[in-house]
Amino acid sequence: MAREFSTVGVVGLGTMGAGIVEVFARNGIDVVAVEISEPALERGRATLTRSTDRAVAKGKLAVADRDALHGRVHFAVGLDALHSVDLVIEAVPEHLDLKQRIFAELDRVCRPEAILATNTSSLSVTEISVATTRPNQVIGIHFFNPAPVMKLVEVVRTVVTAPEVVADVEALCTRLGKVDVTINDRAGFIANALLFGYLNHAVAMVESHYAAREDIDAAMKLGCGLPMGPLALMDLIGLDTAYEILDTMYRRGGRDRRHAPVPLLKQMVTAGLLGRKSGRGFYTYERPGSPVVVPDEATPLATESALADGARVITKVGVVGSGTMATGIVEVFARAGYEVVSVARGLEKSATLREAVRTSLDKGVARGKLAEADRDAALGRISWSATLDHLADVDLVVEAVVEELSVKKALFASLDEICKPGVVLATTTSSLPVIDVAMASHRPADVVGLHFFNPAPVMPLVEVVRTIRTSPEATATARGVCATLGKTGVVCADRSGFIVNALLFPYLNDAVKMLEASYSTADDIDHAMKLGCGYPMGPFELLDVVGLDVALAIQRELYLELREPGFAPAPLLEHLVTAGYLGRKARRGFRDHSHH
Ligand SMILES: NC(=O)c1ccc[n+]([C@@H]2O[C@H](COP(=O)([O-])OP(=O)(O)OC[C@H]3O[C@@H](n4cnc5c(N)ncnc54)[C@H](O)[C@@H]3O)[C@@H](O)[C@H]2O)c1
Repeated sequence: MAREFSTVGVVGLGTMGAGIVEVFARNGIDVVAVEISEPALERGRATLTRSTDRAVAKGKLAVADRDALHGRVHFAVGLDALHSVDLVIEAVPEHLDLKQRIFAELDRVCRPEAILATNTSSLSVTEISVATTRPNQVIGIHFFNPAPVMKLVEVVRTVVTAPEVVADVEALCTRLGKVDVTINDRAGFIANALLFGYLNHAVAMVESHYAAREDIDAAMKLGCGLPMGPLALMDLIGLDTAYEILDTMYRRGGRDRRHAPVPLLKQMVTAGLLGRKSGRGFYTYERPGSPVVVPDEATPLATESALADGARVITKVGVVGSGTMATGIVEVFARAGYEVVSVARGLEKSATLREAVRTSLDKGVARGKLAEADRDAALGRISWSATLDHLADVDLVVEAVVEELSVKKALFASLDEICKPGVVLATTTSSLPVIDVAMASHRPADVVGLHFFNPAPVMPLVEVVRTIRTSPEATATARGVCATLGKTGVVCADRSGFIVNALLFPYLNDAVKMLEASYSTADDIDHAMKLGCGYPMGPFELLDVVGLDVALAIQRELYLELREPGFAPAPLLEHLVTAGYLGRKARRGFRDHSHH
């Protein structure tokens, strides 16, 4: 018979502990909530009150239920108050010696049959357990932030955790309305092992001025549909906690340099910039503990218009190419009111392209998203051409031809001769260095990357890539144009993968490595990222959609440019591609799609 948990203890009422108290109390379980001092206890109580008041204000919790919830929580300073609980969850700072000390004391204070659990993110549950005389009753129960919201719990069993203890804790998770994945004791478990390399990489981008914090966060939200950008997430996690997690993962997880905390992180922690909890981290918050971001000296000025930055006036745009991206881009510009000159290679291709744009606009009308008159006006603004000569008087050229350097270089050399002075020349390349393309013309200062996402009419993000030769005016022009298209333009330097692919694909590759190492299953890994981190798709779902061959090609580029050993493509990914398991398009990738 499953064990009854009628009273549980929570040690440490910080970011995680206060949320964990709420989870238990909400589900009818009595909680003894313990802190190290009176002021810390008061902070924990205040966090719980704020959170439940917010739930009431949002209509998610009845007033009577909130009061009952608070009635179930008993606050106390010191571990002695935990003498008769059935289970303790420890959520103190991420330091092994501190946790071991607390577990040794819990072992003395608590009833012999009580289960002792840690919410550690990266430390060894096994090492914590041996500080007690009951390692078989020690387990990891890893909640996600914010605990009342995120559905996932990682249940971590060590080699000595008793199977009944695992089963009892799994049943408890179900009672709390959570979804659990049970795994072995490895640094970072599933979610953090896949998350923290990515978060650290994003911090490195800030540190090296590769892109601005707002741009990095916007890129991952708009480009990948993530609920938060990586820097906002770091602030939520707490930079001190994130630092400790990275440091432990580096030391425990095979000294992967990608987990070595970026120096900026340590500096921020030392300076007291801990994220939301201290009111300031990568962003500045209304007050400590508040989720509301307020402007600071690094916030781009609201009044800052593109023109003020020296942006040029763009009215007429040339789009070169006739593939998927060119089709979408022609439509996007025409709908936004620009005069568009579409140049394809040959009259036949031009006619096909014209049909494709028309069909897409018709779909917009059929779906009620576009008025017929607006469709006609958009079509009326496009002229269809099969020669570059018609680009002589455009203000901006967007190149979207085949992804081959020699072809793009030849095109830019021609544009150099045809286009008027002051034109901005943009390439949509997703993998070639923009500078290589720029140097094929005699005006590299006017060349930028404009990396649209597929499908261009739908995706709200464009990466604006500035090379070391791009002028600030050209960058400002490109960014301003994105805004007029109703898209967010994020500016970044000219490195493989720009922002989105550089941050996304190593994470996908890591998921493949985790699967290859048989640490977990594709289903559990997908679950963990969706329910623990709020991702719209798990890594294997996404890989099957993107195409394994595409993912492998991007990962290879990243590896070749940065020579980062951790970026080496997962052998399993290479093998699947070789075997022709390319994802949905091949009806088989990580999963079998043949029945769809
Ligand atoms: N922050 C996250 O997003 C997150 C997510 C999942 C798990 N975790 C893990 O949860 C644990 C707690 O992290 P956090 O971010 O909540 O830390 P935190 O710094 O926000 O809170 C820690 C709390 O522990 C209290 N404390 C310190 N020593 C204590 C003692 N001897 N007795 C009782 N209380 C004591 C502190 O006063 C503080 O309130 C860590 O192991 C962390 O890795 C964190």
